[in-house]
Amino acid sequence: MANYEVVHVSEDRPCCRLSRTAQICLGVGLVVLIVAVVIVVIVLWPRTPMVWKGKPTTKHFPEVFLGRCLVYTQLLRPEMSDQDCKKIWNTFKGAFVSKNPCNITREDYEPLVKLVTQTIPCNKSLFWSKSKHLAHQYTWIQEKIFTLEDTLLGYIADDLRWCGDPSTSDLNYDSCPHWSENCPNNPTTVFWKVISQKFAEAACGVVQVMLNGSLSEPFYKNSTFGSVEVFNLDPKKVHKLQAWVMHDIEADSSNSCSGSSINELKLIVLQRNITFACQDNYRPVRFVQCVKNPEHPSCMF
Ligand SMILES: *[C@@H]1O[C@H](CO)[C@@H](O)[C@H](O)[C@H]1NC(C)=O
Ligand SMILES: *[C@@H]1O[C@H](CO)[C@@H](O)[C@H](O)[C@H]1NC(C)=O
Ligand SMILES: *[C@@H]1O[C@H](CO)[C@@H](O)[C@H](O)[C@H]1NC(C)=O
Ligand SMILES: *[C@@H]1O[C@H](CO)[C@@H](O)[C@H](O)[C@H]1NC(C)=O
Ligand SMILES: *[C@@H]1O[C@H](CO)[C@@H](O)[C@H](O)[C@H]1NC(C)=O
Repeated sequence: MANYEVVHVSEDRPCCRLSRTAQICLGVGLVVLIVAVVIVVIVLWPRTPMVWKGKPTTKHFPEVFLGRCLVYTQLLRPEMSDQDCKKIWNTFKGAFVSKNPCNITREDYEPLVKLVTQTIPCNKSLFWSKSKHLAHQYTWIQEKIFTLEDTLLGYIADDLRWCGDPSTSDLNYDSCPHWSENCPNNPTTVFWKVISQKFAEAACGVVQVMLNGSLSEPFYKNSTFGSVEVFNLDPKKVHKLQAWVMHDIEADSSNSCSGSSINELKLIVLQRNITFACQDNYRPVRFVQCVKNPEHPSCMF
């Protein structure tokens, strides 16, 4: 009973048993604990990624990337079936993940372009500007001719969008830089610059470019073709640049080859010691346009 009494008393007024020093120690300990918890939370809390105005990384990006890589290497171009798509994906990702998406360099993609080498035969490169859809319809039929998007890396990345973030090793599925945000060195833009430059450097023999004759400037200097590709053709390997200026079938066919825009291209090409030729409505491509408009007068050959 006596013991019980003592316990009972101590439970009633526990504070009286702590000395003043102990109370101070407890208080300081508590403050230290709270500060420690706050620091841990700040350091380990997942930081929110940077917010941009542009659309985010394409949904299911890794799966689309890997799927396209496998379709290309195993089904479309089995001569490339020894390419390691997992390794290509990891090397691709390494170029931009965990980095500020406005600070990507050409060097970041160097390991990727070193890993994926693909030889395009001479006379088989087709560049395009503002005529992507028609160019791809044509190479779909002319399987031996390659646009950039008919090469492995171009095929994988066509129409996709991607960016990373310094705070995470994942892709940013919330937003990516918009062109209006003054961020020219973003992962997507730099990628296309690098691989279109490589594509142009590797071209040989007679190379073709499909241009859009329904526009006032079929040769648009700020396009990838006008700013990157035409300046990276190697005059030692490229004998001739052959332009096909395609007009929309509904529009009346003016003669764009003699226009000032094409003349501008001609001067650039000749200055680079490459022969230039131009043809309005190149017939094999016109046939492709006519498949959709068989009744049109300009298709009554
Ligand atoms: C951009 O990248 C370069 C080289 O990778 C680095 O030196 C620089 O600090 C980076 N700048 C920013 C703002 O992240
Ligand atoms: C490329 O085309 C040119 C002109 O048509 C021809 O002389 C040359 O033999 C062709 N080269 C190849 C590799 O087909
Ligand atoms: C030319 O450009 C216009 C406008 O962008 C587009 O609608 C048309 O399909 C293009 N024509 C060709 C042949 O690509
Ligand atoms: C073309 O690019 C230059 C420099 O990059 C820019 O100053 C100019 O406004 C652009 N032109 C058009 C028509 O977008
Ligand atoms: C073009 O060729 C001429 C003569 O063959 C040469 O003098 C000139 O340097 C060349 N220009 C370029 C840009 O290669």
